[in-house]
Amino acid sequence: MSLLQVKEISHSYRSRNFFNWKKNESQKVLDNITFSIDEGTCFGMLGSSGAGKSTLAKVILGLEKPESGKVLFQGHNFYTADKQIRHKIRRDLQVVFQDSYSSVNPRLTAEHIIAEPLENYEKLTVAEQKRTIIHLLERVGLNETDLKKYPHQFSGGQLQRINIARAISLKPKLIVLDESVSSLDMVNKNLILDLLMELKDEFGLSYFFITHDIKAAYTISDTIGILDKGKLVEFYDTKNQFFSSEHHVVKEMRNSILAEHPRYRTIRSNH
Ligand SMILES: Nc1ncnc2c1ncn2[C@@H]1O[C@H](COP(=O)(O)OP(=O)(O)O)[C@@H](O)[C@H]1O
Ligand SMILES: [Mg+2]
Repeated sequence: MSLLQVKEISHSYRSRNFFNWKKNESQKVLDNITFSIDEGTCFGMLGSSGAGKSTLAKVILGLEKPESGKVLFQGHNFYTADKQIRHKIRRDLQVVFQDSYSSVNPRLTAEHIIAEPLENYEKLTVAEQKRTIIHLLERVGLNETDLKKYPHQFSGGQLQRINIARAISLKPKLIVLDESVSSLDMVNKNLILDLLMELKDEFGLSYFFITHDIKAAYTISDTIGILDKGKLVEFYDTKNQFFSSEHHVVKEMRNSILAEHPRYRTIRSNH
């Protein structure tokens, strides 16, 4: 059985019409989405802005109840499960968002940010908790001297490491990464992708890796899906299938990235 099964998920948002309350229209954002993620694998969901990626993330995380269809995490449906199961799913299913600064409370130190899930789920002594947090900081490339720092004292890349440390603190099964590397510069992006791949192997983690960045998706994913206007239009079992895809969304994305060296760039100025 797959770790996560997404079955025929559809969802709409009601857009309020302020001028005529009777004319509330609904906008279909997800249309019959089906896929699954196996343990220890990364499913990359590639799509342009507005495709419905974050909505799908929220549905999977139990934050947005879908209009129809179901999500099974380890065989359990979050929206119908009892309190105990929901508590366990919240522990095993973590998330890292794009904007590292807005994901943390600016008044908390790194120590307290990482401590939050541990305090909710683990009954550790003060000394044990501190040791665990230092270990987590070191695991993501930071160290003990960062314990007492506040979010504004970190760079975007460092703060994203803290968000990752918090996400792995309870040894989850699946992490939803919603554009988690998208606002980082190229060097930091590659370093965080390397870290994520190491952690995946070390802890047997699975990822639902959401991105509009074709290179990032190609680097980290085992299987890849293309979300276009709420529909899962393509699914690739292997990177090779994806690489040679002739689908227009993939082709457009491939054409939009500049080759590393100007000599190999195909986009030319007309002037
Ligand atoms: N809470 C909401 N209420 C109404 N419409 C929304 C809401 N969240 C997203 N949308 C709309 O749903 C569509 C998909 O959004 P989103 O899931 O955020 O896409 P993506 O993450 O791929 O950019 C967009 O048209 C967006 O404007
Ligand atoms: Mg989004």
